[in-house]
Amino acid sequence: MADARRPLRILNVVGARPNFMKIAPLMAAYRAADGIDATLVHTGQHYDETMNRVFFRDLGIPRPDANLGVGSASHAVQTAEVMKAFEPVLQAEKPDRVVVVGDVNSTIACALVAVKLGIPVAHVEAGLRSGDRTMPEEINRLLTDAISDQLFCTEQAGVDNLAAQGVRAGVHLVGNVMVDTLLAHRRRAAASTVLDELGLAPGSYALLTLHRPSNVDRREVLTGLLDAIDAIGRELPLVAPLHPRLRAALAEHGLADRLAASPRLRALPPQGYLDFLKLMSEARVVLTDSGGIQEETTILGVPCLTLRHNTERPVTVELGTNRLVGTQPERIVAAFHDALAKPPTGRTPPLWDGKAAERIVAILAAAR
Ligand code: UD1
Repeated sequence: MADARRPLRILNVVGARPNFMKIAPLMAAYRAADGIDATLVHTGQHYDETMNRVFFRDLGIPRPDANLGVGSASHAVQTAEVMKAFEPVLQAEKPDRVVVVGDVNSTIACALVAVKLGIPVAHVEAGLRSGDRTMPEEINRLLTDAISDQLFCTEQAGVDNLAAQGVRAGVHLVGNVMVDTLLAHRRRAAASTVLDELGLAPGSYALLTLHRPSNVDRREVLTGLLDAIDAIGRELPLVAPLHPRLRAALAEHGLADRLAASPRLRALPPQGYLDFLKLMSEARVVLTDSGGIQEETTILGVPCLTLRHNTERPVTVELGTNRLVGTQPERIVAAFHDALAKPPTGRTPPLWDGKAAERIVAILAAAR
């Protein structure tokens, strides 16, 4: 047990874009708390300026104390490289606890290294389950939860999923750190000039993001999605910041021209946090396969059509503005018409109030 007189040393991990908005409020809450010495390690899973540094700037995340520079590779190689590079950092730092967020490869890789060195792990965004074991993230979630001793859940479904697996100790329903970030930056995002730069009026466009391997890596699925995009584009202009995985998949499948030929679709580079939040806030409807965007649109009250067959975030459908519409073009277009004709009205899920990070840090501090 740590000596209560010395600071509690918490080492935090980020790796990929969706981790950055989750760690930002935690780093701020550590700074505001007494007796916590927090460090940040970036695995380097995402490394492009547009996928990485812009978020540190937009969100005021402190510069990482270490960057492992791992980069892209197959799942096995990426996970193994993170583990190999992270172990010496932990051996040198000897923190009291490691905190990992989300469900990317860096999350499980670092959690596994830590527990093997006898360092306890806290998992932020624990318990989420899509039930789809073909999703790389689902495997990362299952494994990370199995080896973490503090499990911080965003919604009751997470608590229930853990209970169904016999895990009750160390489970805390704390709310959503991603929502902390959204609420903290909403006003700054409102001042973004991205719409003017793109010549878009509020409410006059649909926003699209696509990057799940199950959607972009398989040609037949991607072609169906492009059919739906064409049909929607005939009714409402689409704006689409392209994830590098989608850009690469389009090139590989020989479909890059097809996107370029779609006159009503504006392909953009990946956007920074504030500009993307502005684009989401003012969209008539959002089409996405992202996890985080399902949550963010629920808070913003913007209709979200999720181009997947399942979600690990069911509260966004039960209480929020999210609808699961699958990947079949006809179904997507019909759901788009429904969303325009009768936009869903949502409610804010319990504890999505901007204070999740404070709650997490209070629990971490009390458990020393
Ligand atoms: C990863 C996460 C996913 C998350 C997504 C958000 C895993 C298993 N997946 O998926 O859960 O939703 O991040 O973006 O961890 N690339 C670049 N520049 C970068 C990073 C990646 O060009 O900065 C390209 C590379 O070609 C790479 C591909 O994108 O091969 C995929 O990157 P990777 O980190 O393997 O997975 P993502 O699809 O980004």
